[in-house]
Amino acid sequence: MNFIKIERQDRVVTVTLHRPEVLNALSSGLLAELVEALRPLDRDPGTGCFVITGSERAFAAGADIKEMEPKTSVEMFAEDYFAGWDAFAALRTPKIAAVSGYALGGGCELAMMCDIILAGESATFGQPEIKLGVIPGIGGTQRLTKLVGKAKAMDLILTGRTMSAQEAERAGLVSRVVPDDRLTAEAAAIAATVASYGKPAAMAAREAVERALEVGLREGLLFERRSFHALFATEDQSEGMAAFREKRAPRFTGR
Ligand code: HXC
Repeated sequence: MNFIKIERQDRVVTVTLHRPEVLNALSSGLLAELVEALRPLDRDPGTGCFVITGSERAFAAGADIKEMEPKTSVEMFAEDYFAGWDAFAALRTPKIAAVSGYALGGGCELAMMCDIILAGESATFGQPEIKLGVIPGIGGTQRLTKLVGKAKAMDLILTGRTMSAQEAERAGLVSRVVPDDRLTAEAAAIAATVASYGKPAAMAAREAVERALEVGLREGLLFERRSFHALFATEDQSEGMAAFREKRAPRFTGR
């Protein structure tokens, strides 16, 4: 692998974006590696959580501008450029983005495709595509608006300005802000917690929360209830509730 590094620690798989010379610009090659590596791990019951991270300086400074520049509109359309990112967003294992430094354009959008965004104090978020004569193309206009509301989304997308980790936390984009030197350890700890639960319940939980961004309340509640009912077919439900009654730690198997 040229553009990413992958490490496993028990049930947690950490992916480090690694194109340091271009601040982890998200090229087609990087995306292909990412999806090819994560798809089989996603289906592996032994994988309980992904952590996606970058470098101290940059989570990712956006889609690769130099790769995009020569493309024609027809090429963009015919290749359905960026469609591959849907495969990343569709991974069913919980994903945590551990962000320090720049998360701009596609970098911010990649973080928003994750389930939890943990930010180091240096993290800087923005959708600066307007400065390049375009608009966000991997979900920024949609996900950012759903996550932080129209006022902040319009402000960021129309001015191209960046926002700090603190502002992003206040706006509801980021789950927690931690000192930069704690980012890796905190992300690993959160991921280990998520991965310690039964995978079917974790997958169902993230899917149901995602659904809240997509459908009205009535449909969302029905989706949640059906998922809740379905989890009563799992051994993890029997085990989790028995363990509570017996005052012991549960042993989840993902079955
Ligand atoms: C390609 C990039 C890049 C990118 C940085 N680099 N971002 N290459 N695509 N998105 C390269 C630079 O060209 C430079 O290479 C090297 O990384 C270091 O960057 P510098 O600019 O020298 O660093 P610095 O001065 O610290 O500035 C950091 C920065 C700036 C503020 C993050 O690099 C920047 O503004 N980058 C672009 C951010 C952006 O516009 N992102 C959105 C992209 S569009 P060289 O070889 O010159 O040393 C997108 C969605 C597309 O993401 C959807 C529309 C279709």
